[in-house]
Order: sequence, then structure tokens, then C-alpha cells
Amino acid sequence: MFFQKRSAVSFDGYLRKNVKDAVNASDANIPERILQDERFEGITPFENKIWLSSPTMHGDEQKWVDEAIQTNWVSTVGANINEIEHKVAEMVGCKYAVALSAGTAALHLAVKLCAEKLYGQPGAGHGSLEGKKVFASDMTFDATVNPIAYEGGEAVFIDTEYDTWNMDPKALEKAFEIYPDVRLIVVAHLYGTPGKIDEIKAIADKHNALIVEDAAESFCATYKGAQTGRFGDVGVLSWNGNKIITGSSGGMLLTDNEEWANKARKWSTQSREDAAWYQHEEIGYNYRMSNIVAGVVRGQLPYAKEHCAQKKAIYERYKEGLKDLPVQMNPYDGKNSEPNYWLSCLMIDKEAMAPTVRGEKEAMYQTKPGKSSPTEILEAFAAFNAEGRPIWKPMHMQPIYRTNPFITATGSGRARSNAYIAESGMVDVGADIFNRGVCLPSDNKMTPEQQDIIIDIIHRCFR
Ligand SMILES: Cc1ncc(COP(=O)(O)O)c(C=O)c1O
Repeated sequence: MFFQKRSAVSFDGYLRKNVKDAVNASDANIPERILQDERFEGITPFENKIWLSSPTMHGDEQKWVDEAIQTNWVSTVGANINEIEHKVAEMVGCKYAVALSAGTAALHLAVKLCAEKLYGQPGAGHGSLEGKKVFASDMTFDATVNPIAYEGGEAVFIDTEYDTWNMDPKALEKAFEIYPDVRLIVVAHLYGTPGKIDEIKAIADKHNALIVEDAAESFCATYKGAQTGRFGDVGVLSWNGNKIITGSSGGMLLTDNEEWANKARKWSTQSREDAAWYQHEEIGYNYRMSNIVAGVVRGQLPYAKEHCAQKKAIYERYKEGLKDLPVQMNPYDGKNSEPNYWLSCLMIDKEAMAPTVRGEKEAMYQTKPGKSSPTEILEAFAAFNAEGRPIWKPMHMQPIYRTNPFITATGSGRARSNAYIAESGMVDVGADIFNRGVCLPSDNKMTPEQQDIIIDIIHRCFR
């Protein structure tokens, strides 16, 4: 029996110590033991890296960027910004889309708009959520929840369900039983898969709570025929480089409320009042999108649907290619929703998990015939020059949020065990998916032949 160990923090250093004499630059990234493992015999590393999800340019982006430069509209005003605000609102089906520097900026302003509506404008140096709790998705990227902290509030993390890997309505209902005063919910659609929108909206309405909908990963995904990003009181999109389309960076705030759209534009350009000089009655931010970035988004928008179709084909190919293994693909509600299939993921069946442990920054695993683990699969991808990633580590497990409340379908997920009584009944769904799941290479430029090799590598991990 032996354990293999890798440190995420010094992964490069680890690899350097453990590789054969490099014959070329890419060889320096190949862990020797995987290449020497007879299970992987006959596979050669990809010459060009297969990415998790990289930008795909089409040429139109250049045209709009060039036009911005030639006409000297390179700042935070211009035709590209106007056009994408109009176009995205039309595509999503909302009244207003406000172009901002990042999805994170959009989330911050979205949370602040809701918080000020609920609790009023704070004084300078104070957050709009001071002393307030906010319910938030637990299994998401930290950008979803950090704005709650920016505004001085406390996120209460709501556990995940197994049907779509998103916020569990049962846990949300439980959270309202425990914290009936909460009035704001921040909910994300993970990996481009719409969550249980109807149930979550019904609970929010019952408790008179507002919703910030983080559709950063789910642009073009639909629920009951309507686009994600338009179900919340405010929605958010991201044009980060890894998303279904990109602006190189950038994000958008979506709303039907004209006053809120105007407020977001004002706050994002330093909150200037209507005076000849710089006059400020509110705290401002430099969050507006540049017309250059907007040119890239403008060039990408016509290709959004094409990217979704390519990602769907990748998902379907994995599903077919992995069906004989003890794994499940990331699930979705096929009756009510159509994901954008941004990332394909798998989850290993419980019985097929090889022993593995993860510390804060290190992971160890054991190889066992017929079984595997996320760390082993990810190492195998890396050895053959492909990029996978662990499932986003749930927020309630993050050191920075260790003391925040965490609510599961059966109540508080904190302090549930007892040294004197055997633990039973509590399921931490987010931790379970994190432990057993893997994000697979999902780049839309990956060829079917390359994807077949990835599928083959996964099979060999289970040998
Ligand atoms: C769910 C989610 N929310 C928010 C963000 C933040 O978007 P941005 O990188 O544009 O700030 C991301 C990714 O980057 C994300 O995946």
C-alpha cells in the first residue's frame, strides 16, 4: 500500500523534483510515475495543452476593438458599450444590462442595490449590510459571496442538492426557520446548470426576500424557456476569460428597474452628482467597463449559441464515453432547463472511490483496481498535458468563512457531531460532491479525437 502526495501550493516544485530529465519545456510538467505506470502505457502527452475552458476568438472582436481605437473611444463611453448593453438585455430578456469591469463588480453593486433598498444608505466607512445575514449558495466561486462581506454582512451558506448541484430549496426553507429576519438571497447557477429557480423564488416571495442571481457561469442557459440572469431582482453575468464567451474580462448587471440601472452606472463611475465640479453624496467605485473590452464582448456575442452547442457536444460525448464507469455526469433538470454546458464534470460513485484525503492545500490518494479518486484523475490529466480542476470547494469549508453559519436540509451543518453519541442524519451534500467530483477538460476547441483520449485516460485510472 502506498500513498502519493501532491501539494497544490508547491505543485510546480513538486513536479520539478519528480520528473525525468526534461527533453523539452513541456516535459517538465509530466509526473514521472504516471508516465511509468503501466496502466497508461501507449498514451502520449498532448502536444498542445487541452484546457479546462479557454477563450475562443473569431476575428470580429478585432474589428470592434480597432474601431474603438481608430475613433478614439477607448475609455468607459462608446458605441461598443451601448451596443452590448442593448444586445445583452435583448438576449437575456431583461430591460437593462449595465456593462461593468467584472462579474465581481456587478455582484458587488447588485448586493449593494438590494441592501440599500432593504436597509438604507450607510454612512461613509460603513457597509450596507452591517449586522445583517444574507443567505448564499455554498458550492460556488467565492466571487458570488464575497460582496456580502465587502458590505459588512454575514453570509449564511445554504447546502447544495444532488439534482443540479445548486442551492437546495429544502435547506433554504430550513434557513428561514432558523433566521426568519433574513431578506436577501444570493444564488448561483453552477457550471452553467440552472438551479431550482421556481422553488427558490417561491420561498423568497413567501419570506419577502430579494434575490441576486449570479449567472456568471450560465449565460444562455434557460429555465422554462427563459434565460438565467433574469429571475432575480438583479442578475449578474461575467465575461471572464474562461466563460462561455469572454471580453477578456468584464461583467454585466441585469435588471428591469430603470432606477437601479442608472444607480449602477452612477456608482460604477465614482458616484458623481450633477455638478460642474466633482460632487459626491455617495461612495463611488471605478467599476465601469472600457469600450475596448466591450468591443471584444461585441465580437463574441454572435457566437454564444455556437459555443453552447460545442460544449453540449462535449458533455454528451463524455456521458456516452464514460457510461461503463462507476461515475455520473453533473446532472441537470432536463424537463425544465437547458444548461449552457459550460463545464462537464463527473462524480465518482461512493463504492468506486479509492482512499483519498485532502488537507487545506495537499491531497493524498491510493491506487486501487476498479477505483479512482479526483486527485488521481487530475494528476493523470496533468501528466498528459490536459487541464481538469477539482469541484469548487464549498464556501462553508473555506478557512475565511469557517465561522459563518452553514445550513443543510436537516438544520445547522455546524457542531452536529457529539463525542458521546454516534453521529447520524446529517448530510453535507456540498462536501460530498467536492470529495467525489472532478471538472473535466471542457474546452470548445478540443477535437473529438482528443476528447476520446481524455475519456481513455479516465478509464485507465479505474484499472
Ligand atoms: C459563479 C461566479 N460568480 C462570479 C464570478 C466572477 O466573475 P469575474 O471573474 O468576471 O469577476 C465567477 C467567475 O469568475 C463565477 O464563476
